[in-house]
Amino acid sequence: MAGIANVNTNVDSPRADPSTKNPNRPAPKPSTISVNTGTTVVITFCNLSPIPSLIHGYCQPCELGYTAGMASSNRIPPAVDAKSAELLERAYSLGDEQDTRGLYRDWAETYDKTMLDGLGYLSPRLVSDLLAAGTSDLTGRVLDVGAGTGLAGQELNARGFTCVDAIDYSAEMLAVAGKRKVYNRLIEADLSKPLDIPDQTYAAAICTGTFTHGHVGPSCLAELFRIIRRGGLFAFSINSGVWIDAGFDRELKRLEDNGTIHLITREADNLFATSSTKDCWLNLYERR
Ligand SMILES: C[S@@+](CC[C@H](N)C(=O)[O-])C[C@H]1O[C@@H](n2cnc3c(N)ncnc32)[C@H](O)[C@@H]1O
Repeated sequence: MAGIANVNTNVDSPRADPSTKNPNRPAPKPSTISVNTGTTVVITFCNLSPIPSLIHGYCQPCELGYTAGMASSNRIPPAVDAKSAELLERAYSLGDEQDTRGLYRDWAETYDKTMLDGLGYLSPRLVSDLLAAGTSDLTGRVLDVGAGTGLAGQELNARGFTCVDAIDYSAEMLAVAGKRKVYNRLIEADLSKPLDIPDQTYAAAICTGTFTHGHVGPSCLAELFRIIRRGGLFAFSINSGVWIDAGFDRELKRLEDNGTIHLITREADNLFATSSTKDCWLNLYERR
């Protein structure tokens, strides 16, 4: 993985047409670019994908055209209804644990409708496909991390996984997940703390939508890999807005460098059917 360079530049027109190609523009390098147009908009390009994906704001391969201000508006894709957009904005703006627990207490009963009907949420399906593609024995124990209402559990069940546990600290979200009858066990626990689960308990793990703005940071990764058995897989999505900012890139590199994990595949994809850019990373790692 190459390093990330920080480049500060001023943009003359804050409303540059994103579709306009400038032949004089230098080829883009993996970089973080701060664009000062009164307010600062951080536009981050990532070098980990064949597609130079934009992390905040607009990106086309080899183009730096954008509209200043898209960085914030891009966090929330167009939703079918205002309520769905408002709930997602609230989810992305969480301040502390009490905020997070409060949000999911209020949201549990309508979460699926917001995410699936309102936003066309894709991650549970895409990440389940990723895990299923790498799994030959569907009977091994799988942990759904930050399982919420169980959308990923449902997808795994549809792909033939027979023994999936759910872990989440929201009792209200887990109550909805339990009604699906796709989980072996529901575990109420905080992912930011040490887990009361023995080493190498799970054959695999999945996490969708939980490594995102205002939610769970990268410090839990070592603990999650601890409970996955050697040779087991962990498939997860990471919102590209927190990939670098929250330090997921650095923590995964640290775990890879110290021999704990091995990257099998990483690709940029859409979190939502309504996303206008590839706004998440789909990762598949093997526990060493
Ligand atoms: C956006 S939802 C994702 C749910 C599900 N994986 C999905 O894709 O629909 C995030 C979930 O993470 C849970 N969560 C957030 N912080 C957590 C923490 N520190 N420990 C355990 N669960 C947490 C929330 O309760 C919520 O259910």
